[in-house]
Amino acid sequence: ERASEREMIEGHELAAKLFHHLLMNTSQGEAAYEYLQSRGLTEEVMQAYQLGYAPEHRQTLVSLFEKRGYSLERMTEAGLLVRSDRTGEYFDRFSGRVMFPVAERRGRLIAFGGRALGEDEPKYLNSTETPVFKKNETLYGFAAARQAIRRSGRAVLFEGYMDVIAAYRAGLEEGVATLGTSFTEAQARVLRRNAGQVTVCYDGDGAGVEAALKAAELLDGGDVDIRISLLPEGMDPDDYISSYGTQAFLSDIIEGALPVVAFKIQSLKRGRNLQQEGDRLAYIEDVLAALTDVPRAVEREHYMQQLAEEFSLSLDALKQEQYRMYKQK
Ligand code: CTP
Ligand code: MN
Ligand code: MN
Ligand code: MN
Ligand code: MN
Repeated sequence: ERASEREMIEGHELAAKLFHHLLMNTSQGEAAYEYLQSRGLTEEVMQAYQLGYAPEHRQTLVSLFEKRGYSLERMTEAGLLVRSDRTGEYFDRFSGRVMFPVAERRGRLIAFGGRALGEDEPKYLNSTETPVFKKNETLYGFAAARQAIRRSGRAVLFEGYMDVIAAYRAGLEEGVATLGTSFTEAQARVLRRNAGQVTVCYDGDGAGVEAALKAAELLDGGDVDIRISLLPEGMDPDDYISSYGTQAFLSDIIEGALPVVAFKIQSLKRGRNLQQEGDRLAYIEDVLAALTDVPRAVEREHYMQQLAEEFSLSLDALKQEQYRMYKQK
């Protein structure tokens, strides 16, 4: 590892310390503190995740780095500052945001995610790719979760920073999240290497369902057991915990996560009214089509049986129908 990279990491650790201090102890950070409190975060949690506040004033880090003798050019390369093309002046990249420090595998800080306090866009501003921040292999929360993952043999994959933190508050310490990008092969490798079981717990919306199935595909291979949580429409894990509490989250959403095929079958119900014949038939067809991809006959049969029972159909009729569809393909 090069000296320049060490400097970039030091820059992040220095910045995180200042942001955290500003959040916890100063009037500048009061609005951010109240915002986090209103979302249910206690001081202990803000501490555990080293949350911080980047002030509006965009010379906060610039002055800190100048005072400590850090090269502003290097800190720009690290993604902490930006430099005006026109005037050559340096500015803080993050301002007026709640800051989530992002660590690499061993816990050293390499990036930030910054959330707007209100409805400002973008909602989250993340560090760009830098020599120390390789987005496609980084998982938010992994360093902190590692021990718990090893202990339980399970990792839980979320979409968002706040989901990881809400889960931690609920007593689930094995949570990690992608960083505003889709889950990658490199991230899948990290989880596979560390856990025998991975639960994908994404938002309960169309995008979340689709992304969860993609993540499951990437995780597949080797002998990792993959489960997917089913969240109510429009809710994410953090919302769910706020509405239904810790117990329901742990038992229904985490322990109750479904094997991939079962999740796929459930999610085919989304947006359909199964009381209506047309929707019902379309659903049955889609389930049969999905089941043709299941390699193991016993598993296939199990879900066919379930489908037959749910709609009072004979297993024979379903098999005939599937055979007909298969021939058409
Ligand atoms: N994200 C991002 N940039 C955005 C929106 C989202 O990088 N403009 C990333 C963040 O890592 C975020 C995750 O995608 O945590 C999930 O997005 P979303 O579900 O929209 O946000 P939440 O995590 O639910 O955020 P919050 O609860 O604070 O609204
Ligand atoms: Mn502290
Ligand atoms: Mn979402
Ligand atoms: Mn969300
Ligand atoms: Mn959320």
